[in-house]
Amino acid sequence: MHADTNSRTDILQSLLDERHSCRAFLPQPLPRETIERVISLAQKSASWCNAQPWQVHVLSAEATERARHDLLAHVQTQPPQPDIAFPEAYRGVYAERRRECAWRLYEAVGVTWGDRVASAKQTGENFRFFGAPHLAIVSSDASLGSYGAVDCGAFVGNFMLAAQSMGVASIAQAALAAYSPFWHAWLGMGADRQVVCGISFGHEDSAHPSNAFRTSRAALGEALTWVD
Ligand SMILES: Cc1cc2nc3c(=O)[nH]c(=O)nc-3n(C[C@H](O)[C@H](O)[C@H](O)COP(=O)(O)O)c2cc1C
Repeated sequence: MHADTNSRTDILQSLLDERHSCRAFLPQPLPRETIERVISLAQKSASWCNAQPWQVHVLSAEATERARHDLLAHVQTQPPQPDIAFPEAYRGVYAERRRECAWRLYEAVGVTWGDRVASAKQTGENFRFFGAPHLAIVSSDASLGSYGAVDCGAFVGNFMLAAQSMGVASIAQAALAAYSPFWHAWLGMGADRQVVCGISFGHEDSAHPSNAFRTSRAALGEALTWVD
């Protein structure tokens, strides 16, 4: 065992404990070196055959502002059309977990359950990138199918953890992949790519109520099955 295993694991544990999805950001842009460090760390992610199918378009503060403006106009008139099919339904325990995390968010921001106008407004924050100064659009190679998306998921997870280690808050957003044709046109992305998700990132507005709640996790036994 590595001599420092405990302290290294403790550091990893604290980063995992601290990281949470940030839904309100401060406007200050990040230095380009910080963003490049986050991405070079995330590039260490494992992928099947080391294919590294992720491509990431990172928007500067100016480009993020333009995308925010253009996407908000797009979602007013265009239907969702994700490259990768969204779940048809969340049933059973998945419906419960989904409801719990939505409820915690609504409670934090003062949306009453059943208030469709207020909940739609909160959902609409996705398309404002929650005020973030930067946005990353993560895409996979279409020919690699589900496993390409799996590899991109590892990249997204490591991106968020690397960002956390540098004091940068983030949130993965499948909501942005709902408007995949927008990103293909806006970024000049070919049909050989599939939009997996967006990641909004920057400094957290820690005074904002939407950042005041934390999600729970299932007990270990719900995820783990020992086979002896
Ligand atoms: C692939 C992926 C897509 C997500 N899409 C959205 C999204 O579109 N909008 C949103 O508010 N949160 C989104 N989230 C954040 C999840 O709701 C969040 O990770 C989950 O509730 C656990 O909370 P935590 O990240 O604070 O630990 C997404 C997370 C992942 C990993």
